[in-house]
Amino acid sequence: MIDIEAFKRMSYGLYIVCSGNQDKGNGYISNSVFQVTAKPAQIAACCHKDNYTSKIIDKTGSYSVSILHNEAETSVIDKFGYQSGENVDKLQGMRVEYGGTGVPIVLNSVIAWIECKVVKKVDVGTHIMFIGEVLQTEVINDQKPAMTYNEFKEKKNRVAPPNAPTHIDEPSEEETTEKSSSGKYQCTQCGFIYDNSEEDTPFEDLPEDWTCPVCGAKKSDFKPI
Ligand SMILES: Cc1cc2nc3c(=O)[nH]c(=O)nc-3n(C[C@H](O)[C@H](O)[C@H](O)COP(=O)(O)O)c2cc1C
Repeated sequence: MIDIEAFKRMSYGLYIVCSGNQDKGNGYISNSVFQVTAKPAQIAACCHKDNYTSKIIDKTGSYSVSILHNEAETSVIDKFGYQSGENVDKLQGMRVEYGGTGVPIVLNSVIAWIECKVVKKVDVGTHIMFIGEVLQTEVINDQKPAMTYNEFKEKKNRVAPPNAPTHIDEPSEEETTEKSSSGKYQCTQCGFIYDNSEEDTPFEDLPEDWTCPVCGAKKSDFKPI
């Protein structure tokens, strides 16, 4: 038997993984980044094949990992974690530095960063695991601890979307017919809460083609809470 509650008890950090160059760079939020060996220092980043960043890492052969701190801005996570960079310049307005390979490194809400050169790609089905040899690292803030995925879920009321390896598919109804007594409805794809008391239009009156402002999920993906 597989009890998905066991997965929820695993612990992860939260990172912005970037790739590209000064002309075109992009990044995504990841909680599946970890060190795989010490000598040589190697990092693995598990990236969904549909992520735009995956194509850029594949092409350029390098990526950076920016380690988010425990008070990371929600807007930064929303920008990198719930929309594709295919049609949006996610690096616009961000504090960005460029590594020796030319890879962009995001500095907003970050305590340290790592620059890697891809030495191996492992096809794991839906995702590619990019194994990178560490070229350069820097600690830019030693006052704050790193954000964990569990803290992120608790503090921000969000969950990892479908492209994350840790996404948990919550069953959604054909249509949200059940009314919430609290006036609050939660997106099952990203965790965003629509609170009638803070909005002009009650959730019940939103048109059926309305979509989640954070991740673009359908109205029927919301559940009363
Ligand atoms: C908390 C969180 C964790 C995530 N973890 C991963 C991950 O480990 N791997 C992955 O491929 N996508 C992960 N995602 C999803 C991507 O960040 C998301 O699909 C992003 O929009 C992809 O951007 P891109 O298409 O511009 O590359 C995560 C998102 C969030 C919010």
